Amino acid sequence: MGDYTKMSNYYDMIMTSGYYDYPAIVDGLLNHQPFENVLEIGCGTGLILEEIAKRQPHANIRGIDLTQSMLNIAQKRLESFPNIKLSRQNITELDLEQQYRLAFSYGGVWYFVIDGDKEPLLVSHIYDEQLNHLGLENLSKFVQIGGKLLLGIQGPHHDYEKPITNGMIYSQKIEPLELGFTKHYYLDDKDDRVMAQTIHYRTYSFADAKQLLANYGFVYESRAKTHCHFLEFKRV
Ligand SMILES: C[S@@+](CC[C@H](N)C(=O)[O-])C[C@H]1O[C@@H](n2cnc3c(N)ncnc32)[C@H](O)[C@@H]1O
Repeated sequence: MGDYTKMSNYYDMIMTSGYYDYPAIVDGLLNHQPFENVLEIGCGTGLILEEIAKRQPHANIRGIDLTQSMLNIAQKRLESFPNIKLSRQNITELDLEQQYRLAFSYGGVWYFVIDGDKEPLLVSHIYDEQLNHLGLENLSKFVQIGGKLLLGIQGPHHDYEKPITNGMIYSQKIEPLELGFTKHYYLDDKDDRVMAQTIHYRTYSFADAKQLLANYGFVYESRAKTHCHFLEFKRV
Protein backbone atom coordinates (compact mmCIF):
# COMPACT_ATOMS: atom_id res chain seq x y z
CA MET A 1 0.00 0.00 0.00
CA GLY A 2 1.27 3.55 -0.70
CA ASP A 3 2.75 4.47 2.66
CA TYR A 4 4.75 7.75 2.44
CA THR A 5 6.05 7.87 6.04
CA LYS A 6 9.70 7.70 5.03
CA MET A 7 9.39 10.51 2.50
CA SER A 8 7.10 12.82 4.42
CA ASN A 9 9.75 15.12 5.96
CA TYR A 10 11.28 15.76 2.54
CA TYR A 11 8.15 15.59 0.41
CA ASP A 12 7.47 19.33 0.13
CA MET A 13 11.07 20.13 -0.74
CA ILE A 14 11.16 17.48 -3.48
CA MET A 15 7.76 18.36 -4.95
CA THR A 16 8.26 22.11 -4.98
CA SER A 17 11.67 21.72 -6.63
CA GLY A 18 9.84 21.27 -9.94
CA TYR A 19 8.32 17.78 -9.58
CA TYR A 20 4.70 19.06 -9.73
CA ASP A 21 3.36 22.44 -10.92
CA TYR A 22 0.73 23.07 -8.21
CA PRO A 23 -0.72 26.37 -9.53
CA ALA A 24 -1.25 24.77 -12.96
CA ILE A 25 -2.89 21.70 -11.39
CA VAL A 26 -5.31 23.93 -9.50
CA ASP A 27 -6.04 25.99 -12.64
CA GLY A 28 -7.19 22.67 -14.13
CA LEU A 29 -9.37 21.81 -11.13
CA LEU A 30 -11.02 25.23 -11.01
CA ASN A 31 -12.36 24.74 -14.52
CA HIS A 32 -14.92 22.51 -12.80
CA GLN A 33 -17.51 24.95 -11.56
CA PRO A 34 -19.38 25.21 -9.27
CA PHE A 35 -16.40 24.30 -7.12
CA GLU A 36 -18.28 23.62 -3.89
CA ASN A 37 -17.99 20.16 -2.39
CA VAL A 38 -14.59 18.77 -3.15
CA LEU A 39 -12.74 15.67 -1.97
CA GLU A 40 -9.04 14.98 -2.56
CA ILE A 41 -8.06 11.33 -2.27
CA GLY A 42 -4.40 11.08 -1.29
CA CYS A 43 -3.96 14.74 -0.34
CA GLY A 44 -0.49 14.18 1.13
CA THR A 45 0.95 17.30 2.78
CA GLY A 46 -1.86 19.49 1.45
CA LEU A 47 0.06 21.37 -1.25
CA ILE A 48 -2.87 21.22 -3.68
CA LEU A 49 -5.44 21.97 -0.99
CA GLU A 50 -3.53 25.06 0.12
CA GLU A 51 -3.50 26.41 -3.43
CA ILE A 52 -7.24 25.71 -3.73
CA ALA A 53 -8.02 27.28 -0.36
CA LYS A 54 -6.25 30.52 -1.26
CA ARG A 55 -8.35 30.86 -4.39
CA GLN A 56 -11.64 29.35 -3.13
CA PRO A 57 -11.92 30.34 0.53
CA HIS A 58 -15.59 29.30 0.80
CA ALA A 59 -15.59 25.87 -0.82
CA ASN A 60 -16.31 22.86 1.40
CA ILE A 61 -13.15 20.80 1.02
CA ARG A 62 -12.11 17.44 2.41
CA GLY A 63 -8.74 15.72 2.13
CA ILE A 64 -8.05 12.12 3.05
CA ASP A 65 -4.73 10.32 3.16
CA LEU A 66 -3.35 7.04 4.40
CA THR A 67 -0.07 8.40 5.81
CA GLN A 68 -0.36 10.13 9.19
CA SER A 69 3.01 11.92 8.94
CA MET A 70 1.96 13.48 5.60
CA LEU A 71 -1.33 14.58 7.15
CA ASN A 72 0.46 16.14 10.14
CA ILE A 73 2.22 18.49 7.72
CA ALA A 74 -1.07 19.17 5.90
CA GLN A 75 -2.80 19.93 9.21
CA LYS A 76 -0.23 22.63 10.04
CA ARG A 77 -0.22 24.05 6.54
CA LEU A 78 -4.01 24.33 6.44
CA GLU A 79 -4.82 25.31 10.03
CA SER A 80 -5.95 28.80 9.04
CA PHE A 81 -8.54 27.43 6.58
CA PRO A 82 -11.63 26.34 8.54
CA ASN A 83 -13.34 25.17 5.34
CA ILE A 84 -10.83 22.31 4.91
CA LYS A 85 -11.28 19.05 6.85
CA LEU A 86 -8.60 16.39 6.85
CA SER A 87 -8.70 12.81 8.00
CA ARG A 88 -6.50 9.76 8.00
CA GLN A 89 -8.22 7.16 5.90
CA ASN A 90 -7.25 4.35 3.62
CA ILE A 91 -9.44 4.57 0.51
CA THR A 92 -10.17 0.85 0.99
CA GLU A 93 -11.97 1.73 4.24
CA LEU A 94 -13.28 5.14 3.25
CA ASP A 95 -16.08 6.40 5.45
CA LEU A 96 -17.26 10.01 5.21
CA GLU A 97 -20.23 11.94 6.58
CA GLN A 98 -21.35 13.34 3.25
CA GLN A 99 -21.15 12.99 -0.51
CA TYR A 100 -19.01 15.25 -2.69
CA ARG A 101 -19.70 16.76 -6.08
CA LEU A 102 -16.10 16.51 -7.19
CA ALA A 103 -13.46 14.00 -6.14
CA PHE A 104 -9.94 14.13 -7.48
CA SER A 105 -6.56 12.53 -7.16
CA TYR A 106 -3.38 14.09 -8.46
CA GLY A 107 -0.53 11.64 -7.85
CA GLY A 108 -2.75 10.38 -5.01
CA VAL A 109 -4.36 6.95 -4.80
CA TRP A 110 -4.87 6.65 -8.58
CA TYR A 111 -3.46 8.63 -11.50
CA PHE A 112 -2.78 8.34 -15.21
CA VAL A 113 0.51 8.30 -17.05
CA ILE A 114 0.47 9.43 -20.67
CA ASP A 115 3.52 8.80 -22.81
CA GLY A 116 3.27 10.76 -26.07
CA ASP A 117 0.58 9.37 -28.37
CA LYS A 118 0.20 6.13 -26.42
CA GLU A 119 -3.00 5.24 -24.57
CA PRO A 120 -3.19 6.46 -20.97
CA LEU A 121 -2.06 3.96 -18.33
CA LEU A 122 -3.83 3.92 -14.96
CA VAL A 123 -1.39 3.77 -12.04
CA SER A 124 -2.57 2.73 -8.60
CA HIS A 125 -0.81 3.02 -5.25
CA ILE A 126 -2.72 -0.17 -4.39
CA TYR A 127 -1.12 -3.27 -5.91
CA ASP A 128 -3.80 -5.77 -4.98
CA GLU A 129 -6.63 -6.23 -7.51
CA GLN A 130 -9.43 -6.78 -4.97
CA LEU A 131 -8.36 -3.77 -2.92
CA ASN A 132 -8.53 -1.55 -6.02
CA HIS A 133 -12.12 -2.71 -6.47
CA LEU A 134 -12.88 -2.10 -2.81
CA GLY A 135 -11.37 1.40 -2.93
CA LEU A 136 -13.45 2.39 -5.96
CA GLU A 137 -16.58 0.82 -4.50
CA ASN A 138 -16.10 2.89 -1.34
CA LEU A 139 -15.30 6.05 -3.27
CA SER A 140 -18.42 5.69 -5.40
CA LYS A 141 -20.58 5.90 -2.26
CA PHE A 142 -19.27 9.39 -1.55
CA VAL A 143 -19.44 10.98 -5.02
CA GLN A 144 -22.87 12.36 -5.93
CA ILE A 145 -24.65 10.95 -8.97
CA GLY A 146 -23.90 13.46 -11.73
CA GLY A 147 -20.68 14.43 -9.96
CA LYS A 148 -17.14 13.94 -11.26
CA LEU A 149 -13.98 12.03 -10.53
CA LEU A 150 -10.85 13.66 -11.92
CA LEU A 151 -7.65 11.64 -12.11
CA GLY A 152 -4.44 13.56 -12.72
CA ILE A 153 -2.18 12.99 -15.71
CA GLN A 154 1.58 12.71 -15.41
CA GLY A 155 4.39 12.04 -17.84
CA PRO A 156 6.13 8.66 -17.97
CA HIS A 157 8.32 7.62 -15.05
CA HIS A 158 12.00 7.11 -15.71
CA ASP A 159 15.24 6.81 -13.78
CA TYR A 160 16.96 10.10 -13.04
CA GLU A 161 18.70 12.16 -10.40
CA LYS A 162 18.70 15.89 -9.82
CA PRO A 163 19.54 18.41 -7.12
CA ILE A 164 16.66 19.93 -5.13
CA THR A 165 16.56 23.42 -3.65
CA ASN A 166 18.40 22.52 -0.41
CA GLY A 167 21.33 21.08 -2.39
CA MET A 168 20.47 17.42 -1.71
CA ILE A 169 20.19 15.01 -4.63
CA TYR A 170 16.81 13.42 -5.36
CA SER A 171 16.84 10.26 -7.44
CA GLN A 172 14.34 7.64 -8.53
CA LYS A 173 14.66 4.19 -10.03
CA ILE A 174 11.91 2.21 -11.74
CA GLU A 175 11.79 -1.59 -12.00
CA PRO A 176 9.09 -3.58 -13.82
CA LEU A 177 6.76 -5.88 -11.88
CA GLU A 178 4.41 -8.50 -13.27
CA LEU A 179 1.35 -6.25 -12.93
CA GLY A 180 2.97 -2.82 -12.67
CA PHE A 181 6.26 -1.42 -11.46
CA THR A 182 8.31 -0.67 -8.37
CA LYS A 183 9.52 2.86 -7.81
CA HIS A 184 12.43 3.59 -5.48
CA TYR A 185 12.75 7.16 -4.22
CA TYR A 186 16.03 8.37 -2.71
CA LEU A 187 17.41 11.57 -1.23
CA ASP A 188 21.16 11.92 -0.68
CA ASP A 189 23.07 14.56 1.20
CA LYS A 190 26.60 14.11 -0.18
CA ASP A 191 27.48 10.56 0.93
CA ASP A 192 24.55 10.18 3.34
CA ARG A 193 21.30 8.58 2.17
CA VAL A 194 18.74 10.58 4.16
CA MET A 195 15.63 9.02 2.63
CA ALA A 196 14.77 5.79 0.82
CA GLN A 197 11.20 4.79 0.03
CA THR A 198 9.90 1.99 -2.17
CA ILE A 199 6.38 1.69 -3.56
CA HIS A 200 4.88 -1.09 -5.66
CA TYR A 201 2.41 0.32 -8.18
CA ARG A 202 -0.27 -1.59 -10.04
CA THR A 203 -0.99 -0.51 -13.61
CA TYR A 204 -4.04 -0.98 -15.85
CA SER A 205 -4.32 -0.52 -19.62
CA PHE A 206 -6.74 2.24 -20.59
CA ALA A 207 -9.39 -0.30 -21.66
CA ASP A 208 -9.09 -2.15 -18.33
CA ALA A 209 -9.06 1.11 -16.37
CA LYS A 210 -12.25 2.35 -18.05
CA GLN A 211 -13.92 -1.00 -17.29
CA LEU A 212 -12.68 -1.03 -13.69
CA LEU A 213 -13.96 2.48 -13.06
CA ALA A 214 -17.24 1.88 -14.91
CA ASN A 215 -17.97 -1.06 -12.57
CA TYR A 216 -18.39 1.53 -9.84
CA GLY A 217 -20.33 4.12 -11.82
CA PHE A 218 -17.40 6.25 -13.03
CA VAL A 219 -17.84 6.60 -16.78
CA TYR A 220 -15.06 8.09 -18.89
CA GLU A 221 -16.05 11.49 -20.23
CA SER A 222 -13.02 13.14 -21.70
CA ARG A 223 -9.67 14.56 -21.25
CA ALA A 224 -10.88 17.89 -19.88
CA LYS A 225 -11.05 20.26 -22.82
CA THR A 226 -9.50 23.42 -21.51
CA HIS A 227 -6.41 21.85 -19.95
CA CYS A 228 -4.58 18.58 -19.88
CA HIS A 229 -3.95 17.86 -16.21
CA PHE A 230 -6.86 15.44 -15.59
CA LEU A 231 -8.94 12.71 -17.19
CA GLU A 232 -12.58 13.10 -16.29
CA PHE A 233 -15.11 10.44 -15.19
CA LYS A 234 -18.79 11.15 -14.60
CA ARG A 235 -20.52 9.44 -11.67
CA VAL A 236 -23.68 7.82 -13.08
C1 LIG B 1 2.58 11.35 -4.40
S1 LIG B 1 1.60 11.68 -2.96
C2 LIG B 1 0.50 12.90 -3.63
C3 LIG B 1 0.06 13.94 -2.60
C4 LIG B 1 -0.68 15.14 -3.13
N1 LIG B 1 -1.82 14.78 -3.94
C5 LIG B 1 0.24 16.05 -3.92
O1 LIG B 1 -0.04 16.28 -5.10
O2 LIG B 1 1.23 16.53 -3.38
C6 LIG B 1 0.57 10.25 -2.82
C7 LIG B 1 -0.27 10.24 -1.56
O3 LIG B 1 -1.28 9.21 -1.69
C8 LIG B 1 -1.46 8.63 -0.42
N2 LIG B 1 -2.04 7.28 -0.57
C9 LIG B 1 -1.48 6.21 -1.16
N3 LIG B 1 -2.29 5.14 -1.06
C10 LIG B 1 -3.39 5.54 -0.40
C11 LIG B 1 -4.59 4.89 0.02
N4 LIG B 1 -4.77 3.58 -0.20
N5 LIG B 1 -5.54 5.61 0.67
C12 LIG B 1 -5.34 6.94 0.93
N6 LIG B 1 -4.21 7.60 0.56
C13 LIG B 1 -3.25 6.92 -0.09
C14 LIG B 1 -0.04 8.58 0.17
O4 LIG B 1 -0.07 8.45 1.59
C15 LIG B 1 0.55 9.91 -0.30
O5 LIG B 1 0.41 10.92 0.66
